Amino acid sequence: MEKERMERIKEIERLKREKNAIILAHNYQRAEIQDIAEFVGDSLELARKAMDTASDIIIFCGVDFMAETAAIMNPDKKVIIPDKGAICPMAQQLPAEDLLAAKREHPEAEVVLYVNTLAESKALADCICTSANAQEIVKAMDASTILFGPDRNLAYHAQKATSKKIIPVPEYGLCPSHHQIVMTDLIKAKAAHPRAKIVVHPECIPEVQDAADYIVSTSGMVKICKEGEDGEFLIGTEIGLLYRLKKEAAGKKFYPISTTAVCPQMKMHTLENIEAALELEKPEVFIKKELINKARKSIERMLEI
Ligand code: 13P
Ligand code: SF4
Repeated sequence: MEKERMERIKEIERLKREKNAIILAHNYQRAEIQDIAEFVGDSLELARKAMDTASDIIIFCGVDFMAETAAIMNPDKKVIIPDKGAICPMAQQLPAEDLLAAKREHPEAEVVLYVNTLAESKALADCICTSANAQEIVKAMDASTILFGPDRNLAYHAQKATSKKIIPVPEYGLCPSHHQIVMTDLIKAKAAHPRAKIVVHPECIPEVQDAADYIVSTSGMVKICKEGEDGEFLIGTEIGLLYRLKKEAAGKKFYPISTTAVCPQMKMHTLENIEAALELEKPEVFIKKELINKARKSIERMLEI
């Protein structure tokens, strides 16, 4: 079994060299995928990295909207997602028609969308944001009313940075993996590890955010835990991040607030389907031409800010 795994990793490395390909992986990916990736990061870092690379092929180990963002920013590169089923359920919660209806209802508002959205919705936005920059982006917008979607928990986090009126769209958009990290989990974890700092993702519910010491993106969590003086942390996000934390901050202690905070879609990429994706150069991510320019504008505005 182990021999087979090692052979497969060798073959993946060979195919990467032969095809001038790189693997970009989100922080929630399986451990073995983080280990073979050229770069592991949060949504913002992955978008930037996809724009920087000189490789011809990007094997994107993350969910659909992340791979789509890489394809929108790199129309001349092949972006391949090893398992097409890696579809973020939150991104599905804001179809373009619903956003259009909200825009009609609030013509005075500017639209800020979380990068966790469909490409057709991005094409209707004024600016995109990620969990790393949502507060800066809403502050930088001109309008005093912002339609913000699809995550109402991130909207809550963004609202804390501004007196602008933030209207969540849809009303109940959320990430199922983060929304189920609840106060009873946090109270129990804190009682077991009273000295640990509480570090949570802004996709968590407001009560959990309010009880936290830090509310940051996944890579923000890595930075805080690695660089700070503290040695013990309660982590409120998808449990895949724990692997990177333990690897890069060995010697410190990390405890998940909820061990059931798993994103099944993030776990769909495997060594097997990565090898097949490299060999066959598919499934490729295609975005309709008419959407690319519009969606790119809203992503570029974020990168400028
Ligand atoms: P990050 O950009 O913080 O990695 O978050 C992406 C995401 O989908 C979290 O669920
Ligand atoms: Fe989407 Fe949540 Fe999974 Fe992130 S963790 S990809 S927001 S479902």
